[in-house]
Amino acid sequence: MLNLCVIGCGNIGRTIIRAIYEGKIDCKVSGVFDVNKDGYNVLPDEIKKQVKFFANFEEFINTDANLILEAASQQAVKAYAVPVLKHDKNLMLMSVGALVDKNLFENIKEIARAKNLKIYIPSGAVVGIDGVKAALLGGIESVTLTTRKNPKGLGITTDDEKILFDGNASDAVGKFPKNINVAATLSLAGIGFGKTKVRIIADPNVRENIHEIRIKGKFGEILTVAKNLPSPDNPKTSYLASLAAIACLKKITSEIEIGT
Ligand SMILES: NC(=O)c1ccc[n+]([C@@H]2O[C@H](COP(=O)([O-])OP(=O)(O)OC[C@H]3O[C@@H](n4cnc5c(N)ncnc54)[C@H](O)[C@@H]3O)[C@@H](O)[C@H]2O)c1
Repeated sequence: MLNLCVIGCGNIGRTIIRAIYEGKIDCKVSGVFDVNKDGYNVLPDEIKKQVKFFANFEEFINTDANLILEAASQQAVKAYAVPVLKHDKNLMLMSVGALVDKNLFENIKEIARAKNLKIYIPSGAVVGIDGVKAALLGGIESVTLTTRKNPKGLGITTDDEKILFDGNASDAVGKFPKNINVAATLSLAGIGFGKTKVRIIADPNVRENIHEIRIKGKFGEILTVAKNLPSPDNPKTSYLASLAAIACLKKITSEIEIGT
């Protein structure tokens, strides 16, 4: 049986732990590691009885979990992705922006290959990752992500629509690290950080976090739009991101896989 442990007991971590506890995934969750216990403390007591809190990474990583979910930060990916794999545990990553570091990405792939482990990257707050993966095999001409958010979500104030960034995913991840996991996932699935085009627009007229993806290639053209509402208990995180991680866990544990 899948035995999950989680790095980061914030919004995404707690949503996934609750989903497992509610029986939505055929999986056990036995521990969480976090630098701060506040997120763990708000979990219901019946969950806390089953899920142990670890403040010490060495103790956490030596449990018998077979999959570690990172739902913490890009710093956590940099610090813990390699040790997790070296302890023979599969890895699921949410803070995908960290993988703009090519050395880190190649290193974790190499360790996973050598140890016959898997690294899972859920689609996150975007739709169309299946399409870009399939399209890549026939040849892609361009991939463009346009992210449109309320100025508050981007940490600025403006009464007019404002283009904050227009460039490639590699530069976008550096300039908007907290907002750009979607660009990273799209780049890794498709034509890479250097060639994936990204536009970030502050728009006072929108409430949702809107991600539009346009892919052109030999197959034709794909256009997807995700209008994301925030998570019920964290306005900064799109609810779909947590749901995508739960769906990824379901895919791992299911006897049938639908979609690429
Ligand atoms: N892939 C996607 O589409 C997508 C979408 C939304 C969020 N994210 C990313 O997922 C991550 C989690 O998001 P969230 O909304 O749950 O955040 P959150 O702020 O609600 O929770 C993060 C938790 O991780 C802990 N943490 C941070 N750095 C840590 C470290 N180095 N070691 C141990 N614990 C650490 C924090 O104390 C906090 O409890 C973020 O990096 C976020 O950018 C990805």
